[in-house]
Amino acid sequence: MSLLIQGGRVVTAVDDYHADIFVEDETVALIGRHLEVEADRTIDAAGRLVIPGGVDPHTHMDMPFGGTTSADDFETGTRAAAFGGTTTIVDFAIQTKGHSTLEGLETWHEKAAGKAGIDYGFHMIVTDMEDDRLWEMRRLADEGVTSYKMFMAYPGVLYVDDGTLFRAMRKAGEDGTLVCMHAENGIVIDEIVKIALAEGKTAPKYHALTRPTRMEAEGVHRSIAIAEVAGVPVYIVHLSCADALEQVTLARDRGAQVFAETCPQYLFLDLSHYDHDDFEGAKYVMTPPLREKWNQEHLWRGLGFGDLQSISTDHCPFCFKDQKILGIDDFSKIPNGGPGVENRMSLVYNGGVVGGRLSVNKFVELTSTAASKLFGLFPKKGTIAVGSDADIVVFNPDRRETISIDNPHTHHMRVDYNAYEGAEVQGVSEIVISRGRVVVEDNVWHGRAGGGNFLKRGLFGGPF
Ligand code: URP
Ligand code: ZN
Ligand code: ZN
Repeated sequence: MSLLIQGGRVVTAVDDYHADIFVEDETVALIGRHLEVEADRTIDAAGRLVIPGGVDPHTHMDMPFGGTTSADDFETGTRAAAFGGTTTIVDFAIQTKGHSTLEGLETWHEKAAGKAGIDYGFHMIVTDMEDDRLWEMRRLADEGVTSYKMFMAYPGVLYVDDGTLFRAMRKAGEDGTLVCMHAENGIVIDEIVKIALAEGKTAPKYHALTRPTRMEAEGVHRSIAIAEVAGVPVYIVHLSCADALEQVTLARDRGAQVFAETCPQYLFLDLSHYDHDDFEGAKYVMTPPLREKWNQEHLWRGLGFGDLQSISTDHCPFCFKDQKILGIDDFSKIPNGGPGVENRMSLVYNGGVVGGRLSVNKFVELTSTAASKLFGLFPKKGTIAVGSDADIVVFNPDRRETISIDNPHTHHMRVDYNAYEGAEVQGVSEIVISRGRVVVEDNVWHGRAGGGNFLKRGLFGGPF
């Protein structure tokens, strides 16, 4: 199968030019002006951007959490991702406490195989790491799982203590892998939660009010300090506020190997979303919580100046009616997480490029290239170049949509609300190509469950 994508404006993290792209089988074979080649199919990309498929390095499909399981599985979640222009996800496999991380990996392979419609990799969530299990980490790296996530939050669930953190970090550093951190002081936060509940404060908004930004900043500071001593690069996930960003900036300025992502929810939503007398605020119960609006300009500045390298979604949807309801009487029982995998590219293009905050190259870097470099996928993913996987999006920079659960162009996620309901965006992924196959066109799914491959990722290759 061959494809000729003709006359588009090819934009990568560093390039911006008009050219034709010839795709043969799964990869880009030729790029040039007015290519004279025979192709099985020609796509007219005049007036469109032709960009690398999005790479979302932070999703939770089919994840058991908070007494339930995230609403999208690998089939529905990756299909929704593709509709939004994302062609690669890196999801999180979980080690069950006391069990092997390799067992955890096996479980997640079973969840994804035959279901994922786009390519996917795994990070490993480490929930304990005794000395006699450290050898597993090298095995994971050999299996292409070259990054871990550890949690300073959620005591009694995913939380690890600083000793575990240090042990795992040291080994990860020796192996040339990367550690992702959920950086929040969960122990102190749990005390604040207990006080709030004892005072009868049970509504969703108290989820946010019991998680001060200082406790996120403290987690960021501590995890970076431990990583520096352990000798491992660290990647702060879902960074939500100026307080935490300051710690990243300080560390980077002294030369520490620190990287960080933020997410659309922290750029476009804010604390006021919890201001409801009813249970509506539960839709926005995620961790870290939404912050005061003024934080957003700091995050944009961090993205623009390079202290934040990537925008992921932390897609972890729970249905409002059937799942968020678990916390109707107690905010601490609301499953934490929200949907977003489908809307990331349009939101960031609109808020970033249309909003005058990001160049179009920076948009590609933040939504695709940087994550593929950090997580050992570049240049297979994250760019358009001869030999790269033909993961390509024909993106209409002028088309407008209103994001809504009721708009069939903007909501394919298996969840009963959209976190960005009513947001108007300019910039839409129209044709989505995954390894040379058109998987989305005219808002119709042409991919198939199982069409996505597991990605064995390379070791950490930075600093960049
Ligand atoms: O609320 C969130 N973020 N849920 C997903 C789990 C995590 O902490 O990333
Ligand atoms: Zn987290
Ligand atoms: Zn997450």
